[in-house]
Amino acid sequence: MSQDKKYNAVTTEYQALDAAHHLHPFTNTGALNKKGARVITHAEGVYLWDSEGQKMLDGMAGLWCVNMGYGRKELVEAATQQMEKLAFYNTFFQTSHMPAAELAQEIASVTPGDLNHIFFANSGSEAIDTIIRMVRQYWCIEGKPYKNILIARENAYHGSTVAGASLGGMSGMHKQGAPGVGGIERIRQPYWYGEAGDMSEEEFGIACAKALEEKILQVGPDNVAAFVGEPIQGAGGVIVPPANYWAEIQKICDKYDILLAADEVICGFGRTGSWFGSQTLGIKPDIMSMAKGLSSGYLPISAVAVGDRIANALIAHNEDFNHGFTYSGHPAAAAVALANIKLMKEENIVDYVANDIGPYFQQKLRETLADHPLVGHIEGIGLVAGIALVKDKETKEFFPGDLDIGYICREHCFNNGLIMRAVGSRMVLSPPLVITREEVDELCEKALHCFNLTLKSVS
Ligand SMILES: Cc1ncc(COP(=O)(O)O)c(C=O)c1O
Repeated sequence: MSQDKKYNAVTTEYQALDAAHHLHPFTNTGALNKKGARVITHAEGVYLWDSEGQKMLDGMAGLWCVNMGYGRKELVEAATQQMEKLAFYNTFFQTSHMPAAELAQEIASVTPGDLNHIFFANSGSEAIDTIIRMVRQYWCIEGKPYKNILIARENAYHGSTVAGASLGGMSGMHKQGAPGVGGIERIRQPYWYGEAGDMSEEEFGIACAKALEEKILQVGPDNVAAFVGEPIQGAGGVIVPPANYWAEIQKICDKYDILLAADEVICGFGRTGSWFGSQTLGIKPDIMSMAKGLSSGYLPISAVAVGDRIANALIAHNEDFNHGFTYSGHPAAAAVALANIKLMKEENIVDYVANDIGPYFQQKLRETLADHPLVGHIEGIGLVAGIALVKDKETKEFFPGDLDIGYICREHCFNNGLIMRAVGSRMVLSPPLVITREEVDELCEKALHCFNLTLKSVS
């Protein structure tokens, strides 16, 4: 049997299994079943292979998570050794174990400010649920149970549990599985390129922060528990806010005694050239969620880093906090996260993103793609970027909604050895942090080729 036939047979077999039994997340399953899923078989460094033998440069680090790249033996060994020693024990019964205790300390060593107390969960969504419950409980302990409204932003992504979907600003998610969780308000997103009209970045930054103040005054400062935001919106299309935005938000939260929660699920662990996006953008959060890059995606684990103000109130309050998950601080996942942070430190990866590969990536992207007729705007920091595809560069006219330009472009990328994600008409990139300059060059060349193919498809 020729190599191609062998691959085809494997592909068909797994596509059939998948179509018969597997319901995929965020997917039109009927349409996928007709087409057949791409079957990913193995990976190394920044590359993935599918069952047809196609090699692809993973411009998305899996799903914004495989920060230290694929095939890291150190992480595999950490999991194996921990599973042999203690595969599982919980942290409910007044018990702890070494990986959870050590990881809590290790995370506290890299979080900014006084975010010294760590609560473990398994996914970004669970971390967000934890934040919602914890800040509301905090205000109850403070004798203000009515201070329970959370303010988030349109087009924010905070996960897919009922609470995460309710908090996020994705209208497509609100429509499904309704009703959601109550006590949530939303304000506009700081998307300068798409929504500022004639305003300068600075004017727009102030206007978007002012929207928070207006909302607080509308619902009453005494009723607002916290403002929640991603330092840079990721799944919303990589929206980098104007430089003055977060400082204004911070001032408003301080003025009305509103807790500030940073959702660092994408920005955390080096993505923006600091350990956390909050450090890059000058935010001082009271509480912070993290997941993905915490273990480079090798095992599911997430955490909430809690500042002294909230943690001390919880600790002093003589009552159980009735929240947690069977796998909170799972030993194997914690051991992998520990090994991952150790690896990040040994390889100076945060410095590499800040001072070497991040600036190189941002510059190379602009050099290669900024003049392309489809590219309206490129924004990003470190190793995360969003590219707006437009019909008319000069007038910033977007393609009509029924022409799914992002999907067309994403398909060309997949078929030409590059994984890039489409968010509506925005193409987003978030490659592994270990990517080299040569690999960035390859990524940009492939992207240019695929943008040319996309232009042809719509001309
Ligand atoms: C900012 C942010 N918060 C929360 C989540 C939810 O994480 P998970 O998919 O692990 O539940 C995501 C996922 O992409 C995210 O980007």
